Amino acid sequence: MLTTVEPLLEERRMVICAGSGGVGKTTTAAAVALGLAERGKRVAVVTIDPAKRLANALGLEELDNEPRKVDLDLPGELWAMMLDSKRTFDQLIENLAPDERTRDEVLANRIYQQLSSAVAGSQEFTAIAKLYELDRDGDYDVIVLDTPPSRNALDFLDAPDRLSRFFQGRAIRLFMRPAGISGRILGRGTGVVFGVLQRVTGVDLLRDLSVFFRSLGGMIDGFTERAARVGALLEDPATTFLIVTAPRHDPVEEAIFFHRKLREAGMPFGGLVINRVHQPPDDRLPVAVAADLGPALAERVTVATSELVALAARDATNVARLRGELDDPPTILIPELEEDVHDVDGLALMRSHLFAS
Ligand SMILES: Nc1ncnc2c1ncn2[C@@H]1O[C@H](COP(=O)(O)OP(=O)(O)OP(=O)(O)O)[C@@H](O)[C@H]1O
Ligand SMILES: [Mg+2]
Repeated sequence: MLTTVEPLLEERRMVICAGSGGVGKTTTAAAVALGLAERGKRVAVVTIDPAKRLANALGLEELDNEPRKVDLDLPGELWAMMLDSKRTFDQLIENLAPDERTRDEVLANRIYQQLSSAVAGSQEFTAIAKLYELDRDGDYDVIVLDTPPSRNALDFLDAPDRLSRFFQGRAIRLFMRPAGISGRILGRGTGVVFGVLQRVTGVDLLRDLSVFFRSLGGMIDGFTERAARVGALLEDPATTFLIVTAPRHDPVEEAIFFHRKLREAGMPFGGLVINRVHQPPDDRLPVAVAADLGPALAERVTVATSELVALAARDATNVARLRGELDDPPTILIPELEEDVHDVDGLALMRSHLFAS
């Protein structure tokens, strides 16, 4: 058990906070970034769909897809941004397009517009792509990446592969055959369906599809190469994964699975952040307050106390199971706080549990 996350962050340029949904990834990422900025680092934190109040507390009112400096007086600097997945994808196309015409054609294409938000894993992919860009530009000592609220944290690990598989896949190659898409590939029946669709919806899907695949065709190599480099960042020794989890059954199972996949993929695991752990109460409390509260209220304190004892025991069991499965990894415990973390004071409290003062 660690009292500070610092040894896990030494010499690291990229810190990725991963874990299952709702366990505290965004909050942990922001608090880690704050702690590093307090230690003199120039830090950027890339958040994904932060709660509105937390975003406001960081001065993030709009999605402009570039880090903004948080207005706090710190030894270092804290920069924060909310990831705009669509914008990141568009910028990637802008960079990869061979000329302006192709770029405009793709960006204006309805298929692209749907695809850039709909391909499974595109939010995961753009998060890593953004990390890659920020790292390449070299403006920060450390970049802390929050990860998307996917049900399955694993989506994140294979997002670059999945996307390049899509770009190299059968669908795209079929469409790019010289014969075009009207002929033997789709067959007559499909052509009729597209024709009916066009009449009903007014959208010339077939044309959109062929323009999309034709203009994207020239970018496949560029895209695949970028996806490979973006993916390589996940294995970089300057990267570390913090697995954020909660001391409950399902998130613990997911954390065990995720850790195994990290190891198999040769990605650098830093340690566990187990968040929202219930602390056992002082069991002398009901006795101590009985005299002041009277018997009825004291009885309720007794009930609440025993509930908390049960919760704390359950949490301790889950923590022990998780740590056992992972062979006693470096672990930080963060207690369940009295309130949601929605402002700088809340973040500072969270940070005080992550870093020794
Ligand atoms: N230790 C804590 N004590 C009390 N509340 C907490 C604690 N940590 C996080 N929270 C609250 O839990 C909620 C979820 O946290 P957060 O948004 O960081 O989770 P997440 O893993 O990013 O979720 P998602 O998967 O939806 O992105 C937030 O309202 C946050 O303020
Ligand atoms: Mg989140």
